[in-house]
Formats: sequence, structure tokens, C-alpha cells
Amino acid sequence: MKTRKRFFLSLISLVMLAFGVSPARATSDTGVANKQNFNTDVIYQIVTDRLLDGNAVNNPAGASFSADCSQRKLYCGGDWKGIQNKIEDGYLTGMGITAIWISQPVENITALINYSGVDNTAYHGYWARDFKKTNAAFGSFTDFTNLIAAAHLKNIKVIIDFAPNHTSPASQTDATFAENGKLYDNGTYLSSYTTDPGVFFHHNGGTDFSTLENGIYKNLFDLADLDHNNATVDTYFKSAIKTWLDLGIDGIRWDAVKHMPFGWQKNMMAYVNGYKPVFSFGEWFLSPNEVDPANHYFANKSGMSLLDFEFAQKVRQVFKDGSDDMTGLNTMITDTASQYAQVNDQVTFIDNHDMARFQVAGANNRKLEQALAFTLLSRGVPAIYYGTEQYMTGTGDPDNRARMTSFSTATTAYKLISKLAPLRKANPAVAYGTTTQRWVNSNVLIFERQFGTSVAVAAINRDLVNATSITGFYTALPAGSYTDVLSGQGLNGNDITVGSGGAVNNFTLAAGAVAVWQYTAAITAPTIAHVGPMMGKPGNTIAIDGRGFGATKGTVYFGATAVTGAGIASWEDTEIKVTVPSIAPGVVAVSVKSAALVTSGAYNNFEILTGPQVTVRFVVNNANTVSGENIYLTGDKYELANWSAATPLGPLFNQVVYQYPTWYSDVSVPASSVISFKFMKKSAGPTVWEGGSNHTFTSPASGTATVIVNWQP
Ligand code: NOJ
Ligand code: NOJ
Ligand code: CA
Ligand code: CA
Repeated sequence: MKTRKRFFLSLISLVMLAFGVSPARATSDTGVANKQNFNTDVIYQIVTDRLLDGNAVNNPAGASFSADCSQRKLYCGGDWKGIQNKIEDGYLTGMGITAIWISQPVENITALINYSGVDNTAYHGYWARDFKKTNAAFGSFTDFTNLIAAAHLKNIKVIIDFAPNHTSPASQTDATFAENGKLYDNGTYLSSYTTDPGVFFHHNGGTDFSTLENGIYKNLFDLADLDHNNATVDTYFKSAIKTWLDLGIDGIRWDAVKHMPFGWQKNMMAYVNGYKPVFSFGEWFLSPNEVDPANHYFANKSGMSLLDFEFAQKVRQVFKDGSDDMTGLNTMITDTASQYAQVNDQVTFIDNHDMARFQVAGANNRKLEQALAFTLLSRGVPAIYYGTEQYMTGTGDPDNRARMTSFSTATTAYKLISKLAPLRKANPAVAYGTTTQRWVNSNVLIFERQFGTSVAVAAINRDLVNATSITGFYTALPAGSYTDVLSGQGLNGNDITVGSGGAVNNFTLAAGAVAVWQYTAAITAPTIAHVGPMMGKPGNTIAIDGRGFGATKGTVYFGATAVTGAGIASWEDTEIKVTVPSIAPGVVAVSVKSAALVTSGAYNNFEILTGPQVTVRFVVNNANTVSGENIYLTGDKYELANWSAATPLGPLFNQVVYQYPTWYSDVSVPASSVISFKFMKKSAGPTVWEGGSNHTFTSPASGTATVIVNWQP
């Protein structure tokens, strides 16, 4: 019976292959149609203008264009057709890439801006003019949908960069500077920076980066900063992102999330999650050794993940600069595992368009290869910056964004990626596993990923001169012999033998070695690997990925609430799609009970919202405080912390939009709701509640609102 079943299954695979359908689609958690879960993917980050010119007709003319790309602040001709070509010729799939992140696709200004005697263009895509049109230098909407179709055919997901923080560079006093930050709605003019009667923009000067508030409500450099508390701006961005979601994008990289109000972004994520949920991650820059609780709060509570700068900076310190060592690397992994509620959903990388490329001219290639191997085998979704596989160099913007130098498939880095990237699909330990340190000193780290009984282990010796003898190394790999996954790649790894109790034979880890050993085993008991999105309102559909759910519909639990029958849209062995039930909002654990009545472990921290969200600015006047005291907010909704004195929202801001003794905060709250709220003073001492009766306010059905009250003594 068993053999027959297997025979029919392989018959189905053969038929699928014959029809050009990759068998990868059969497994939902790893399939290209899975837009919520990127844990099994490897992203390739592309500066669209710099990969390949696939269509010379769309190249900007005249002074905006540098045909040989020697002027790197100008357009160089790269476009969506060029990316499509590299998908279709197998360059990306040959490397094991399963997702691309492309430059912001929207229409940008075409004016040249002269900074310090050098002409600058919007080749990078961050100078938007109309978020509902395409950047003509990248292509038309047809070119865009062609790219998406070509990508999906090759099992590649498409992530767009999206930068709603600002339009383009502008001057408060000079309307002739560049394009005056003008914003258009699908061709219809909305506003400009100097003539802004509807107050679409902030006019608070440039940020000095001194505080979070300063960075949110003032201009980032000279970029015309949009006011997301303006109802038209809010509505505009919801319909703009809908345009791109409707074209079939699979993910969004949100630019400059540190510079927009948390509440507005949470409300946007509630919109995206309720419409067409796609994997979303924000850019919150951190410097080397910077650990910021506000960054963790954002990743855990906004409804989107973040680019993992803590990871990236540490990897660069350890493998590139030598300013930290393997114990520091291991500490970063341990720390981030508790700082991020979903550490597997943060996007890891070793370089990008805003930092020096990892490869330093003249440096030993092995450093980059080790950093790549570490990243591809670690928790998180790896993003590889285009050209890293070709050892491209460039110490900063714009030299780190040079035109792609080569598409060689013979480099060690290309081959290394092509060996390790597919492991994320093949071995759930790499995609979903926990991380355990198995052997560490300043130069060697051996770490293990484990999911169920599947295990992957990597050993890296970053000393490029001296070997290390490894003794006392224990693993969760079952007894047996393991061949190095990278053997034959020139990375000096070795095979190992595991004895009883996980004891590994003593061996010498060669200088500069990278070795990988792995084991997979079928999981038959229901085991949750991933839930996405992790925030939603009742009625939203979410995807639960894992193993061993079985073929027959069982039960999904949100906390203690069981969802069965019609509440479950689909049920497969590796993926369940379920409707968020109408239960009290709050943070609950998700678990699965199979039809055979076996219950999975809990997947914690799923956030149930009260309902559709809008952003409301809460303002309190005359709230005088003593030194060390700050103003906080709470109210009768979950989104306002349910009258919590212990964990209210705050501290509120009091410097930019309003000044002390006025305090304010932009909060994502349920739409069309009567809200009761109060402010309070908190310090090291006891909490001081406002007196009098509760304030009340009815939130709008859509758009935004501001409610201003006086502090009640
Ligand atoms: C961060 C982007 O990555 C960077 O390249 C850009 O210039 C700024 N945000 C502003 O959009
Ligand atoms: C405590 C506050 O003191 C009060 O003003 C508020 O009405 C209640 N929480 C609501 O339960
Ligand atoms: Ca072109
Ligand atoms: Ca801003």
C-alpha cells in the first residue's frame, strides 16, 4: 500500500514536471504562492538601475544618463526587463534565489539636483512624485507585471521597496529647487512643499537625529516629509499600496520606518493584512553595537519585521573588520533570539546600498564567503545584495551601487550560495529552527539549528592561518557519518562521525574552514513552524505553516478559542489557512490540533486587533510634569492598553508638532468606535492619573483624526 502511494505521488510529480509546474509548489510552506512566510527563501536585493539594461528605449536622455555608469549619481539604464532577463536565463535560480527585492518602482522626479557640484538623479527610486505610477526608466506597468509573471514562473517572489516617508528633496524657501517635493495622485497634482495649503507635508525643518520624535516629524535630510496624520495622505497611501498589491507583489520593504509614526505604520499594516497580506519588513538603521529597545518594540508590535541591522553590523565586525570575535557573534544570536518575538522573520544581510560593500579591495575572499555562509544558515530571512556573489567592492554611496560587473556562475561565492540557499527549503531546521551554540572560542563558532528532529550544523574558523582542534563537541545530529555539504567547494571543511549521545569525533577544523552537516527527518506530529501575518483583526485570514498537520481538517486554537469547519479555509499537511475568530483583542498563542487529536506546541504572540484601524492623534494640553516624570496614555480599548497603569502607551512626545506642556501621540485605534481615555503621569514614583471623568472621542470610519483635551488635575 505504502509503495503504491509513493508510486502515485511520483507519477503526479512527473505529470507536474511535464506541464512545467515545479514540484516545489506542492509543498505550501515553501511554495512561491506563499506570500506570508519567507523563512524558506533567500532574497536578492537589486538596485534596479544597476543590474542590467534590458531595454535601451526607456533610458533617460541627456544629462540624466551615464551610458557607461561612470557617473554613479545618474541613471545607468537598468530596468525591469533586465531583471526579467536574468530570471529567465537562470542566473538567479542557479544561485538558489527565491525572492528579489527591487528599488521603489513608483514614478520619481526627473529633475537633476546639483549637490556639491555633482548632478544627482532619482536612479535609486527614493525620490517619489507619484506613488501610483511607474518609474518610466524602469518600465511600464506591463513591464512590471511581465517581471512578476516571469519571476513567479521560476518560483521567485517579488518584493518592492516602498518609501512613504517623503516625496523628494525640497527647500522650504525656494520653490524652484528640484521639483519642490510635489506629490501627484495618478497624474493629479496634490501639493508642493512651499505651497501646501492642505498641509500634506511637515514644515519643521531637518532632523538632527537627536530623538525618535525629532526623526519622525522633521525632514530626513532635505526630503519633503509627509504628514501621515493628514487624512488625504493616509487614504492616498492605502490606495497606492493597493495598486501594487493588486499587481501581484509578494512583499514590501518599507523605507525609513524609524522616521514615520509607529501608530500610522501599524494602521497601514492592519490595512495590508486585511487586504492582501504580504511579508513586510522595515528599514530601521542601527550602527555597530547599537541595541535599541524601540527597534525591538517596532519589530514586535508594528505588524512588520525589520531588516536585522544588529545581525548585519555584528557579522561585519566579526568577519570583515575584525573589531569583534566569534563570542560576540554568538552573543548577538542569543540576545536577538529574545529581543525579537519572531527572530526567524527578521531580514538578515551583510551589506546593502547604504553601507560599504562587504568585500574590501585586496581582502581575502574567504571573509565574505564565511559571512555569507553564516547568514544563509542562521535564523532570519537572508538578503544578498546584488554583486556580492561577484565580490564587487565600493566603500559607500554611490560606489556601493556600481553597475553589475559580471554574471559569472563560477565564483566560489555564487557556488556557495547555490549550495546553501536550497537547504532553506529542504531542511526545516535552517528555515525554522532554534539556534544552539555547540563550540565557541574567539575564532571558531560551531552552531546548530534544530526543528523537530531535523538538524543543521555549521562550523566556521575565521582564523585564515591557523587550524583549531575540536574536542568535546556534541550535537543533536543522530549517530552516523556526515559529509560536509560544502565539500568540493574549496572551503576546507571536513566530514564528521557522530557517536552515541551526540559525541562528535575529535577533528581539526582547518584554517578558514566552513563546514556544514545536516539531517532531516519527517515530522508526523503537528508542529508549527511559522504563522503569518502575526497581527490581524477578526475575519482576516492567516497562514499557519509547519509539519505533520495531516491531510484532514482538524482544529486551530487562538488561545482557548477553537476554530473548526468553515473557519478553516484550507488544511494541508504543511499549511493551514484560518480565519481569525471574533474574540477579545489581545495577544494569544496559536496552536493546532490534528484530526487525529494530537496538539502542537504553542506559537506565541499572535496579536488580535479590535477591528479595522485608523490613526488618531491624542493631544493633551497643560500637562505639567516634574523632572523625571512623563505623560502616558491609556483607555478602554486593547489598542490603548485596556486601562493599564502598568503598561500604558508612551511616553508621549512634546517637542516638535506640539511643545511641552502639550504632549501628543499618533495611535492606531479601532475605526468608528467610541473611545474613553485618560492620560497619566509616570515616573520612578507612583503613577498619577488624570482626575475627573474619562475623555471620550469617536474615531472616524477611515482617514485620520486629532483629539485635543486639557489635562484634568
Ligand atoms: C533609506 C534608504 O535605504 C536610503 O538609500 C534612502 O536614501 C533613504 N532611506 C531615504 O529614502
Ligand atoms: C482608572 C482611572 O483612574 C479611571 O479614571 C478610569 O475611569 C478607570 N481606570 C477605567 O476603568
Ligand atoms: Ca533601460
Ligand atoms: Ca517623517
